[in-house]
Amino acid sequence: MPQSFDLFFATSNNHKFQEAKKILEGFGINLGFFKCELEEIQSNSLKEIAKNKAVQAFQKCKKPIIVEDDGLFIDSLNGFPGPYSSYVFKTIGNKGILQLLKQNRKAKFISIISFYDKKNRESFESKVDGKISRSIIGTGWGYDPIFIPLKSTKTFAESKNNISHRFKALKKFSNWYFDK
Ligand code: IMP
Repeated sequence: MPQSFDLFFATSNNHKFQEAKKILEGFGINLGFFKCELEEIQSNSLKEIAKNKAVQAFQKCKKPIIVEDDGLFIDSLNGFPGPYSSYVFKTIGNKGILQLLKQNRKAKFISIISFYDKKNRESFESKVDGKISRSIIGTGWGYDPIFIPLKSTKTFAESKNNISHRFKALKKFSNWYFDK
């Protein structure tokens, strides 16, 4: 029997989808995977990028949809890689980031979740403060092996649970979703 989903997550990133599915399941939302590549507008604003992607995704999927745009912002690099996190990860990777940093290792992850269903258009932002580790620790995806959230000694690759930027933004989203 075909499964029916409450809403879809448009992304090409299977890791993001698996995390989001598990998180939203906890809030009683059954999330479907709409695997697709979306064009990313040139902008310094994650919110503008996410809002634009949500409309693109809805035009393709024709179902209530969420997209996520997120990034790692490093203090001593004036917020770099920020909106360019995906490109920077593919080019210089975690090793390259570690080589750029000296004493000040403060950083944050920001996530924007954008929802669109033709009637409603909403975005939800959350962040997690932390720092960049001195070496690559663990085997998680993306920047997980070099990001240590505040008050923790472990990288996201070792322990992520319910403290991630994604979890917090999806929690805000689900509170709104059930109220709308
Ligand atoms: P985008 O939102 O798909 O443009 O991707 C942002 C990039 O940031 C991803 O490709 C990952 O490299 C990285 N990233 C975003 N969220 C996470 C996370 O939770 N863990 C590790 N890396 C992440």
